[in-house]
Amino acid sequence: NNILNLNLFGINFKNPVFLAAGVMGETGSAMRRIAKNGAGAVCTKSIGIEKKPGHNNPTMVEVEGGFLNAMGLPNPGIDEYIEEIEYVRKQMHELDVKIIGSIYGKNEKEFAEVAEKIVDYVDLIELNISCPHAGGGYGSSIGQDCNLSHKVVSSVKNLSDVPVVAKLTPNVTDIKEIAVSVEDAGADGITAINTLGPGMVIDIDAKKPILGNIYGGMSGKAVKPIAIKNVYDIYSAVDIPIIGVGGITTGRDAIEFMMAGASAVQVGTGVYYRGYDIFNKINDEIKEYLLKNELSMNDIIGCVHK
Ligand code: DOR
Repeated sequence: NNILNLNLFGINFKNPVFLAAGVMGETGSAMRRIAKNGAGAVCTKSIGIEKKPGHNNPTMVEVEGGFLNAMGLPNPGIDEYIEEIEYVRKQMHELDVKIIGSIYGKNEKEFAEVAEKIVDYVDLIELNISCPHAGGGYGSSIGQDCNLSHKVVSSVKNLSDVPVVAKLTPNVTDIKEIAVSVEDAGADGITAINTLGPGMVIDIDAKKPILGNIYGGMSGKAVKPIAIKNVYDIYSAVDIPIIGVGGITTGRDAIEFMMAGASAVQVGTGVYYRGYDIFNKINDEIKEYLLKNELSMNDIIGCVHK
């Protein structure tokens, strides 16, 4: 009887601390390592129809309070990536770790095409409609538009027999409006947030922007208060579960997200701060807090709204 168990979207997760979409989900071996270090689920790097090389180097730079990245959605394309998932599937099953397939596209047709290919290999599909620097009609140009977001969610929901969650961007005027739209389109849940900005850093000696793409999305500790407010707003607007993400490095951070309304959390940049073992550590810290205060996860999810 583990107090960290949760049932979300009809799926049993052994704990609420998941790997966020990103570089750690690029290869089967990295996903396996994360799974062995206590994650309740692992999310893939976002996958599209065709191979994409991504933006020019450097693609990531550490700044105060976090990182700026402009990877540019690099991925081998869905057909090749399926092999990575096949390689880890059995082991994930043995470790009782669920697989979240993150996908992207530039319109509902592309999303549906990738979803159709990935659906049999994953427990959950996450729609990346929120990369802030992807360009070319990908990413946040969808997530900033209620109609486009609605179209993408409904087209994938139409063909998917696994739950579908939409990952939202904080770079909008009204996050509630977007959340309501994806809920109306049938989304089973919402992941919030993707990276903030974009932002930019300049090397004053070289007199040039540092990132190859010039600008990129901000992740890490500095974005946490913004992510918390987004989760808080989304919780007040919809009835579907929220997966909170943005600057989580400790169990206390995770609990803050839960109190704002998240049922589970994802960790991405946190791995750089605390290592692969961050999943076990955060789970232990959540457990310790719950036991000490004689609370269950259900007691704290959304509790600041009451
Ligand atoms: O910050 C991000 N970077 N968010 C995404 O959704 C994609 C990623 C990338 O590949 O650039």
